[in-house]
Amino acid sequence: MAKLVINPEKKRSKIHKEIYGHFSEHLGRCIYEGIYVGENSPIPNKNGMRVDVVEALKKIKVPVLRWPGGCFADEYHWMDGVGPKETRKKMINTHWGGVVEDNSFGTHEYFELCEQLGCEAYVNGNLGSGTVREMSEWVEYMTFEGISPMADLRRKNGREKPWKVKYFGVGNENWGCGGNMNPDYYANEYRRYQTYVRDYKKDQHINKICCGPNVDDYEWTSEVLKTCFHHCEDKFHGFMDGLSLHYYVFPEGWDIKGSATDFDDKVWYKTLSKAYFMDELIRNHGAIMDQYDPDKKLGMIVDEWGTWYTVEPGTNEGFLYQQNTIRDALVAGMTLNIFNKHSDRVKMANLAQMVNVLQSVILTDGADMILTPTYHVFDMYKDHQDAMLVESSIESEYIGLEQEYQVPDLTESVSVSEDGTLHITVTNASLDRAIPVEAVISGRSVSEVCAEIVSGEMHQMNTFENPDNVQVRTFADVQITESGLSFTIPSCAVVHLTVR
Ligand code: AHR
Repeated sequence: MAKLVINPEKKRSKIHKEIYGHFSEHLGRCIYEGIYVGENSPIPNKNGMRVDVVEALKKIKVPVLRWPGGCFADEYHWMDGVGPKETRKKMINTHWGGVVEDNSFGTHEYFELCEQLGCEAYVNGNLGSGTVREMSEWVEYMTFEGISPMADLRRKNGREKPWKVKYFGVGNENWGCGGNMNPDYYANEYRRYQTYVRDYKKDQHINKICCGPNVDDYEWTSEVLKTCFHHCEDKFHGFMDGLSLHYYVFPEGWDIKGSATDFDDKVWYKTLSKAYFMDELIRNHGAIMDQYDPDKKLGMIVDEWGTWYTVEPGTNEGFLYQQNTIRDALVAGMTLNIFNKHSDRVKMANLAQMVNVLQSVILTDGADMILTPTYHVFDMYKDHQDAMLVESSIESEYIGLEQEYQVPDLTESVSVSEDGTLHITVTNASLDRAIPVEAVISGRSVSEVCAEIVSGEMHQMNTFENPDNVQVRTFADVQITESGLSFTIPSCAVVHLTVR
């Protein structure tokens, strides 16, 4: 029996809705086909956006969408993607498969998508190969209301009112594909470029995201913050609002990666253990951030996370198309619990990527669409968005088949929404052990509980032939007790309990 202790009176931090954010890059079939098919497509669309995909995404309440990359962002020249489509430049997508990018999805189309989804915009600027002027003019184009060359150009291109850009990334992975910079060099570039990312509207601050580390590159975090904050009078008011962190789970390492669907028990635990490393990364990078920002004003922005496997057999290597199983559901459930628990520092996270790329929530095949196990976890966890994290802990044991790759069998996080409803999410990583849980909820009695679950055999997935193999099911086996609740969480499961 594992004890889950919940203290709803001890509110910890707001779980920013942006923790449930997504990422869409001009990569493979993410944007083109996955989201955008164009107005003339036989696939049902609204202003070019697939109706089925947008409807499914609205259901999980996508709070924010990062675009246009990734590595693509530092080679993207926004001017190529505005104006009449027939005159837009065609370019090579050098990073991703060397295919032709016709720029038919550009700034206007991105904001149309955000409007249809009802989400915030997170635009990633080009610092690696773009100029300060180019970045500054993009911001002017998107957000300036008055008369100016860029605002006039936007109007000429059919959009009268400016859009709201809530987040702006000043470069991406500038330690690698974004220019191979040293931390000190990037930090000085950050200081320069961000100066010209202006707030044209007083009440609409653009939150600037500085390029943070890859995985456990603590030197990058230290050096970038040191240089950025050296002789900087006004650290936080508009200078830097977030520092990014990228972490992918490669089950067998970067070179081999490993199959998305064909794996054994050992690799199951190895994958989950690697996913759990996110907790350590947040703690360690967070400790460095604390030295400069003890009040935690600066957000840790985990704007790329998820599993990265070998591409599906027969697909383009540069398209990063992979299937998604119960293993991915566990990675998602555990990782989102970790983000919730660190919501005092983690203020946004963006799953890589939204459709057809890496750990997607949706896969498409022509006009068909399926929802992945990861989608269903995001669906179950959506009530945590903007709720308050409350104090909780669960008794867990480290499990795994190799000493080096151990993972807690159970993880949890608990939040309370404004009307007092508690949301408890629990994961069980064990392959063979259902675990009885006794939840002790202090200071209140439980009158009603509803529960749902995503679980199955570790390889279970949804396919175009069998799209509902994995879905959210009712979890009926929960009892109200004097001190709270009791239930038995099956093996390989993610559970959400709504408690009133
Ligand atoms: O998500 C795929 C790629 O991974 C992104 O373009 C890049 O930022 C990261 O290396």
